[in-house]
Amino acid sequence: TTVEWEAESYDMGGHDTYMHKEIHEQVDAVDRVLRGRIDDRFSTVHLGGLNLDAREARGVRRVKILGCGSAYHTGLIGAQLIEELARIPADAEPASEFRYRNPVVDPDTLYLAVSQSGETYDTLAAVQELKRKGARVLGVVNVVGSAIARETDGGVYVHAGPEVCVVSTKCFTNTAVAFALLALHLGRIRDLSVADGKRIIAGLRKLPEQIAEVLRGEEEIKKLAAEYANAKSMMFVGRVRGYPVAREASLKLKEVSYVHAEAYPASELKHGPLALIEPEVPTVAVLPDDDLLEKNRATLEEIKARSGRILAVAHREQEKADHTIVVPRNEVELDPILMGIPLQLLAYHTALALGRDIDKPRNLAKSVTVE
Ligand code: G6P
Repeated sequence: TTVEWEAESYDMGGHDTYMHKEIHEQVDAVDRVLRGRIDDRFSTVHLGGLNLDAREARGVRRVKILGCGSAYHTGLIGAQLIEELARIPADAEPASEFRYRNPVVDPDTLYLAVSQSGETYDTLAAVQELKRKGARVLGVVNVVGSAIARETDGGVYVHAGPEVCVVSTKCFTNTAVAFALLALHLGRIRDLSVADGKRIIAGLRKLPEQIAEVLRGEEEIKKLAAEYANAKSMMFVGRVRGYPVAREASLKLKEVSYVHAEAYPASELKHGPLALIEPEVPTVAVLPDDDLLEKNRATLEEIKARSGRILAVAHREQEKADHTIVVPRNEVELDPILMGIPLQLLAYHTALALGRDIDKPRNLAKSVTVE
């Protein structure tokens, strides 16, 4: 059983679908998650409801992030941010898998439960199991006062505002930004330098305008979507920072357009999925301009050699690709946040071209509140 949102009670604001509206709301939504939290004096971030003092933050030996669907994917981004900025070993796992495998619950691990609705049963059950075993669990939640927000010891609100479309867009982005804030906060309590703190803060402040810039490219993405909409299947690849972006973009395309898609780390392509590559199975490659760009370009060559078509999302034109969506540069740690946005538009316009029920895809619900 599932719970339906009362979509009718929200104004469409001139958009044809909530998904389109919510994609365009991201400029303001990201501004909101940042507002009032940046502390320029100490080049850090204040998170009022976190409920984790400096001594406790220093005592954290591991971070484990739990969530389902898109929330799990933001957890993958969050784990990388926490490792990069705070140098705490971190990983993400689907909440349901976690709770069914009788996990080792460690007192020095900080557990983070991620959820847009705050009502997803699997995530809530994981929180309850952790609490029963005495663990410290914080929430990264959008809906204020929701079950997960209430059952956790504190956390970070995502402030995306109401998200009506079943497919998550603005909440995904805002959650990733919330993780950047948390990672910066933990990093500055530990060993992240003032200079790096300033660098990340400057990057965060640039995000709303850069998101607006990506959204201004919508017409071009719409044309690309028309070109790729009849694909038999789509392959999404990325390395390290690009990989969670590929995972989420693949999920988004599946959910809203029903086009089959797979996501792999680019380096895994040669270990199996390369067998699928042919002209009818195009690849979307996420290639940030980081230290892995050359490796990623080599992957593009492998795909071209099998006559695969390539749509790249990158910081500059990729000549090996058939098309490149160029996104603005920010700090490398923040690349996943911006690079996901054109791929939301790609999923949206693919679904539109195929005449899908965009806000309420078949078989899905906004939140799954039962097992
Ligand atoms: C459902 C939705 C997904 C969502 C997931 C987790 O499966 O269809 O879009 O990502 O639940 O929802 P939550 O509210 O916990 O983020």
